[in-house]
Amino acid sequence: MELVRLIIDGREVEAPAGTTILKAAESVGIEIPRLCYDPDLSLMGSCRMCVVEVEGNRLLPASCVTPIMPGMVVNTESPAVVEARKTILELLLANHPFECMTCEKAGACILADYAYRYGVKDSPFVGEKYCYAIDESNPFISRDLNKCILCGACVRACEEMTGQDNLSYLNRGYRRKATTAGDVDYIDSDCVFCGQCVAVCPTGALTEKAMKGLGRRWEIERVRTTCPFCGTGCNFDLAVKDKKVIGVLSNPDSPVNGRSLCIKGRFGWDFIYNENRLTTPLIKKDGKFEHASWDEAFDLIAKRFNEIKAEYGPDSFAALSSARCTNEENYLVQKFTRAGMGTNNVDHCART
Ligand code: FES
Repeated sequence: MELVRLIIDGREVEAPAGTTILKAAESVGIEIPRLCYDPDLSLMGSCRMCVVEVEGNRLLPASCVTPIMPGMVVNTESPAVVEARKTILELLLANHPFECMTCEKAGACILADYAYRYGVKDSPFVGEKYCYAIDESNPFISRDLNKCILCGACVRACEEMTGQDNLSYLNRGYRRKATTAGDVDYIDSDCVFCGQCVAVCPTGALTEKAMKGLGRRWEIERVRTTCPFCGTGCNFDLAVKDKKVIGVLSNPDSPVNGRSLCIKGRFGWDFIYNENRLTTPLIKKDGKFEHASWDEAFDLIAKRFNEIKAEYGPDSFAALSSARCTNEENYLVQKFTRAGMGTNNVDHCART
């Protein structure tokens, strides 16, 4: 592999040919601001937030789409770069609602982070403001296009991660929108509500309804877990506040699924606190289920299993396990069946 040497912020960097300036900088711990760049999505190079100064180049190239060249001298925070980023932020804020205090994304909005970092409080550019109706048509996702910065992450995620291709761009210039075919509400579109668009949205344009008002990102503890809904074994983080699960956040380090989740994994967590969930075993007495203690239940199960085994033999027993169980639980089912009941009649729903 051909390696290219260059200088970034005075540091010697070596990276494979074809690497972008942004990635080469990242490889030595230099973080270049970005809005439309997402490591899980194709390159877009549209927001220009990642511009850098390259000696000998009078333009400021976007580092997320510019490959490194031998001998390049790059400055990621020169006065010209900082000035350009401020102007980009001012242009974006010219048409962005100033409601960070009440925005659901506060604490996790990179637009607000960069505005703070570069000291941009408002915008000198005045003109017409967007006034889109907020799409609350569906049970899962709030869509406020007034906060959209047209980074295109939702469009790319819908196409590249989900394969659903439900989102695209409409119109040109000021009227440009990232929206559904026919500009209909999500509920009337081909959206499958996987929530990938929410996971990649850098601002408060797309947010999860169920988490609204329940906690700011800095108040949330992330607890990695495995999805219980099918046997794929997707990982995600439970968002936990005050020891209570308030939502699901995808985690790029998940080995099976990365940040991809389906509707059940991302939005189906509310069963945890459903008041209809069983909290004790039930034993049928005189045709009716009655609450019982765990000791009563285990005693009854052991008694009946022993009676059946004694009367009809071990092979009268069979166990069918589930892909929804963990590996450890499935191991225990087969161990109990073979060692406890004395039969190999054990099967699993995911075998066929
Ligand atoms: Fe490079 Fe948007 S992050 S152009």
